[in-house]
Amino acid sequence: MLHRTRLILALALLLPTLAFAQSGAIDCVTDEPATITYLGDPVGNLPVVDAETVAAFEAACPNITVEVVPGPASASDVLANYLTMFEGRSGDIDVLRVDVIWPGVLAENLVDLKPYFSEEELAAHFPGYIQNNTIGDEMVAIAFRLGAGMLYYRTDLLEKYGFDGPPATWDDLTAMATTIQEGERSDGNADFWGFVWQGNNYEGLTCNALEWQLSEGAGSIVSPEGEIQVNNDAMIGALERAAGWIGTISPPGVLSYVEDDARAVWHAGNAAFMRNWPYAYSVSLTSEAISDVFAVSALPEGASGTYAATMGGWSIGVNRFSENVDAAVAFAKHFASFEEQKRRAIMSSINPTIAALYQDEDVIEAVPIFAGLDAVFMGAAPRPSTVTGSLYNQVSTLYSTAVHDVLSGDEDAATAMTLLELDLQALLGN
Ligand code: GLC
Repeated sequence: MLHRTRLILALALLLPTLAFAQSGAIDCVTDEPATITYLGDPVGNLPVVDAETVAAFEAACPNITVEVVPGPASASDVLANYLTMFEGRSGDIDVLRVDVIWPGVLAENLVDLKPYFSEEELAAHFPGYIQNNTIGDEMVAIAFRLGAGMLYYRTDLLEKYGFDGPPATWDDLTAMATTIQEGERSDGNADFWGFVWQGNNYEGLTCNALEWQLSEGAGSIVSPEGEIQVNNDAMIGALERAAGWIGTISPPGVLSYVEDDARAVWHAGNAAFMRNWPYAYSVSLTSEAISDVFAVSALPEGASGTYAATMGGWSIGVNRFSENVDAAVAFAKHFASFEEQKRRAIMSSINPTIAALYQDEDVIEAVPIFAGLDAVFMGAAPRPSTVTGSLYNQVSTLYSTAVHDVLSGDEDAATAMTLLELDLQALLGN
């Protein structure tokens, strides 16, 4: 069931984009020779995808060379790299991937891209993401990828153990994962686990925990009006249930998993369920163990009677301290273009931010979940980055640290949430 505000958001995202523009040829912006750097994404098959993006761009703009600097797998580590770079007012990385939650944190260090786009070009993109990237009068990044948390599950094992479909609720998931794990282990797979997800203390844990929290109707960390929402019984219950997964249906190592660690266990055929983003879909199709025996659905519901998917996504921005702003802008524009988003969608199930691509036959054939799970993508719930602005990263770090303390048994859930509430009050001044 879709929450009404999500439905409205979905419509608001889709409607204005029906008339779209395809940019066509790559716009090199400058013919000055330049070498620019881009911080690459090591997750899944993205290094291969990025290399193709660069090759297409360099072929069209032979005056510009793009060097891909290998980046870290954890979003929090990417941000730490950027912040260190900006402290030194450095142009070391010219073109930056900007997480959906960072425009407020990074704005002052990014170039305003608005003058480089026509209105027609911008109208092709989901307006919600343009708005998210607009700080004051400046558009500090252009989106190329959206995301939403979802549940991957093993169709063969559901059938083997007599389940009709994916779990409707978190309690169902816990029960089903327990049954399947016990069965698979007694059939000889000692490495098998029920449920893998992202439990490292980083931004990804904030995403997972927010999904548990929202689905219980336990608030959204900080409400759009600025109210701190973490210390309540529903949240405490959600955390206690998740802590109960550690070492039972989820490996103890999940406490240090980022996205691709969970995916590796899943990919090897050693998990019944996985929480992850859409990128894991196409790469799972290359797994010998599971390519034919998995499907995806919305995450389970909590007591609120609805599921929640955290809204993810990435944009491209240009470093204000870059010595080659025009060349960097040209690469950023190419990265976010219709053609490039289409190629990324087909190669790597990267959700586009251009609505027309969700009706593109080639895209839907390669990634049928883009049609089947459109309500999950369009209805995803934002993290509180707009209301907390430049303080978002500190809010998220306090939150994921408190959640991690509960999961690892270092703190009981009620105490952790009481302390977190005090910390957030001190940080946000209310
Ligand atoms: C994905 C999401 C991003 C999120 C990150 C957390 O990359 O797209 O928004 O912050 O995961 O690990």
